[in-house]
Amino acid sequence: MFTIRIGNKKIKLLNWLIFLIFVFLIIYIVGLIFFMLPIFTKTYNYKLEKENYVINSKVTFKNVWFTCKEKQEYVIKAEDKDIYNVLEKDLINDGFKKRKNKLIKISKSLGTCKDDRITYDKQHSSKYVLFKLNGKKEENLIYGNNYVENYVIAKINNKKVKNIIIKSNLNENKVGKYIISYTINISPCYKQRLYRKVNVIDDEKPVISLIGEKEMEIEYKDVYKEPGYSATDNYDGNITNKVNVKNKINSKKPGTYELVYSVKDSSSNNTSIKRIVKVKEKEIKTIKEKPQIKIKDGITYVNGVLLVNKTHCLPKDYDPKVNKTALKALKNMQSASKVVGLNLPLISGYRSYKTQNELYKKYVKKDGEEKANTYSAKPGCSEHQTGLAFDIGKVDSSFANTNEAKWIMENAHLYGFIVRYPKDKTNVTGYIYEPWHVRYLGVDIATKVWKSDLTLEEYLGIN
Ligand code: DAL
Ligand code: ZN
Repeated sequence: MFTIRIGNKKIKLLNWLIFLIFVFLIIYIVGLIFFMLPIFTKTYNYKLEKENYVINSKVTFKNVWFTCKEKQEYVIKAEDKDIYNVLEKDLINDGFKKRKNKLIKISKSLGTCKDDRITYDKQHSSKYVLFKLNGKKEENLIYGNNYVENYVIAKINNKKVKNIIIKSNLNENKVGKYIISYTINISPCYKQRLYRKVNVIDDEKPVISLIGEKEMEIEYKDVYKEPGYSATDNYDGNITNKVNVKNKINSKKPGTYELVYSVKDSSSNNTSIKRIVKVKEKEIKTIKEKPQIKIKDGITYVNGVLLVNKTHCLPKDYDPKVNKTALKALKNMQSASKVVGLNLPLISGYRSYKTQNELYKKYVKKDGEEKANTYSAKPGCSEHQTGLAFDIGKVDSSFANTNEAKWIMENAHLYGFIVRYPKDKTNVTGYIYEPWHVRYLGVDIATKVWKSDLTLEEYLGIN
């Protein structure tokens, strides 16, 4: 074997050779990994921060020296939705594709990409770009005013950029959010773009005009009738139908009330105005003249109103049958209650002397005379014999708490009826509360009696 002698030591040359080859091989592999690989795959990572958005870009060049294949992948993420919407359009124009929720551009090209890469490298190493908005990045413009463009400051290597591409969707006559974009070309394949938001706004409040007086007075228990109003807006025009009226008038409670009319235009400018409505105190009925009592054929009329009660009864043979006018009014009332989802069936209408006699006897037998007298009239003393009284809904004390009974209480006068035996008036009428028993008087008198909160006897001044 080859050996060499150094002093006393003998070294085997072949072993050395194998060892050296092995070391070179390792250096070669390590070198290949560390030095050769970047030649095949080179990755540039950069982040462009722009005025209102951020583009995180990853540009990967593969095998650039050999095949000139370029692969660019941009992932766009915008923080502002309005900017993003515009950005998306622009970038799609620039060749980006929408994939799921990302905008991605993958371009593969031969020939020009090598130059592009060089431009790209150069621009980052040698070009100084000054590109910023002149003025605010978000502006408000009052609708109808002219927009004054502030442009941008754009310099490359201290030289003013002449070709600035400005795109804008601004409409000064339409309230909305608009974007103006400014683009400069730094190199053939590298652009920078800035955005400005312009919000066209309407800050003028709508105007409400009241029809009728700003201060009104209504009678106790009178229904407030809205005289009307109108609302106009500089931008939306007539917005009367958007007016909201807060009406808390309780005409059964005298006092001063405020009606609040408010309206909002499409830009949320709000206007509200008030109308004062005074509900007058109840007129205390003072009997100026003695009531005129007339008795004709045994029937009592007080100031022209037929009166039947425990002390004013009817002749045994008085048999007028149901009053046609009263029946018609009853039908109208029943229909009106139906419209609001209520049901007021007729339980008992005209009752002859004979019928009342039978009823009364039955009640006396059942409850005794004293109790029967609290809810049933003696024959000849029932209003039902006049043909002007009706029992509707349900003849039962439980009826008092129904919506039907409440509706009758508030609306019967509009059809000419009164609740003849009201609550807490037993001492006057002699009968328990009968929310189902209505008496026809005609709208005029019925309304007056209703407004007075009195019984018919009290109203006529004969108790
Ligand atoms: N229930 C009334 C009072 C009548 O019998 O006429
Ligand atoms: Zn009755």
